[in-house]
Amino acid sequence: MTAKLILGKDVSEEIYAELRQRIEALKAAGTLPGLAVVLVGDDPASHVYVRKKGEMCEALGMRSKTIIMPEATTQDELLAVIADLNADPEIHGFLVQLPLPHHIDADAVINAVAPEKDVDCFHPYNVGRMLAGIPDFMPATPAGVQQMLIRSGVETVGKHVVVVGRSNIVGKPMAAIMMQRGAGADATVTVVHSKTEDLAAYTRQADILVVAIGRPRFVTADMVKDGAVVIDVGTNRIEDPTHPKGSRLVGDVDFDAVKEKASMITPVPGGVGPMTICMLMANTVHAAEKAAGVSQ
Ligand code: GUN
Repeated sequence: MTAKLILGKDVSEEIYAELRQRIEALKAAGTLPGLAVVLVGDDPASHVYVRKKGEMCEALGMRSKTIIMPEATTQDELLAVIADLNADPEIHGFLVQLPLPHHIDADAVINAVAPEKDVDCFHPYNVGRMLAGIPDFMPATPAGVQQMLIRSGVETVGKHVVVVGRSNIVGKPMAAIMMQRGAGADATVTVVHSKTEDLAAYTRQADILVVAIGRPRFVTADMVKDGAVVIDVGTNRIEDPTHPKGSRLVGDVDFDAVKEKASMITPVPGGVGPMTICMLMANTVHAAEKAAGVSQ
């Protein structure tokens, strides 16, 4: 059996169609939703992500502000920019792209973002709300994975979701979301990571396997149950002399082998990737609706 592909482009287009209607309603009520993105330094991948976020704002007819600061920016200079964005009524949500240069304390930066504008859902206040099951914002990548499951008709209630990886951005919030009560969740969740003994014994039990461990093709076919749904959050650039760029992107899953065993799978690229920006846009629209007093 070859697995059905779950494509972030298709799922995100459905969500964008819904967001466009909400944006039109906001504009009609006099509010133009605005997102700002702050980028410090020269990381090439970050520059690509930040450009894509700006382009998506424009495509949706939202206000977009991109602030690019040099690698040598001090923490105080960055905190001053954050304070300005916190106070800017035209900006409903903003984020500081990670990773930051080593001389800047990422926690201090995350804590400085006003919780009502924290569209990344990285501030401890918003992380706490999500964990308590009273979320305001949802963390973009895990929420995007949940939308892919829901909109592909994957049953999650009572199913065993195994999350591979425990990062603050993906693994931990992914587990929290899937164990919540309600549609698209209500799962039994196991989290495994780099220190787990006999990790494959857990992954083989997964009805739904979400992989975010940051190691190219880490999950092999023997680690996957027949018929499992496999969601690959990894994006790893590996050398490939046959490729025009000399390198290409692969996920954390050995796609070619695992697709013969899974019932559904996300490719890399084209799988989870587009969902992160989509859910960021959803969070920004939500922030603008709250600021405008429009309920959703
Ligand atoms: N770097 C990689 N992913 C993300 C993300 O979702 N938000 C931010 N701010 N930085 C990132």
